[in-house]
Amino acid sequence: MADQDGIQAGKNFYVDQAQENKGFFVKGSNVYDWGMKHRLSRIFNPKSGHTVMLAFDHGYIMGATSGLERLDINVPPLAKHADVLMATRGALRTSIDPCNDKAVALRISGGSSVLREDMTLEYLMVDIQEAVRMDVACMAVQCYVGSKNEAQTLKNLNTAVNLGNQYGIPVLGVVGVGKEMERTPRYFLTAVRMVAEMGAHIVKTYYCDDFEKIVAACPVPIVVAGGKKIPEKDALELAYNAISKGAAGVDMGRNVFQAEDPVAMIQAIRKVVHEGETAEEAYKFYLETKED
Ligand code: 5RP
Repeated sequence: MADQDGIQAGKNFYVDQAQENKGFFVKGSNVYDWGMKHRLSRIFNPKSGHTVMLAFDHGYIMGATSGLERLDINVPPLAKHADVLMATRGALRTSIDPCNDKAVALRISGGSSVLREDMTLEYLMVDIQEAVRMDVACMAVQCYVGSKNEAQTLKNLNTAVNLGNQYGIPVLGVVGVGKEMERTPRYFLTAVRMVAEMGAHIVKTYYCDDFEKIVAACPVPIVVAGGKKIPEKDALELAYNAISKGAAGVDMGRNVFQAEDPVAMIQAIRKVVHEGETAEEAYKFYLETKED
């Protein structure tokens, strides 16, 4: 029973100051519930509005790849410079210290491997209870628009969005590009918008020409994947171009953990994404920071 002694009636109700309906800083999120917004604020930095995701979920489709031979050794030095850890549940549980302040983007779809020609068939593999149990900030679902398995992957996405909205967990719709698809502005204008209209709270895609149009046509934030390893300077230019054309962040894997100096690389990426540095400035930082 609350203590009934000493109760003091309210005094100052600021009657001349209307309550302000503050817009939430994440694109397209104003009507989301509090919990969804709280998770999004762990993904996107409220000051910069941007995010640096470290992707190391590659094992779900390609096993032990170069730069991720040992998750327990390769990842921790990089994770501390990321805002978000994009990972599988197996990697997190076995190799990542839960005592960290990073948001998690949990890979919840899967079902194909690089051992097969066509990798576009995926199913939802991780249930919502597991996502809640692992305290994730968002759930990542691969979408292969234009592939023979597009319907299945879009069903996966919608199922995840239905559950994510129920539990207040954002869904990251990942626009995958199968072998028979071209990375053209027309393709991405179609695929990115479809994923967003199906309710994804964040869309991950690749950088392409006319990227500003893809950003403008997408009602939620876009995060850009790095793709296959390219020279560090080019990867920083990719990040710079994406951010300068409206991307809300990057989700890089191979261009970080396969860099000559991965720790220096993710720090250089942060300079572009959060500190507004140019690719040239960030590359200069990279050269000065990397260990010979
Ligand atoms: C791996 C993935 C990765 O999350 C995504 O492609 C980002 O990693 P990278 O920058 O290496 O492409 O989906 O299958």
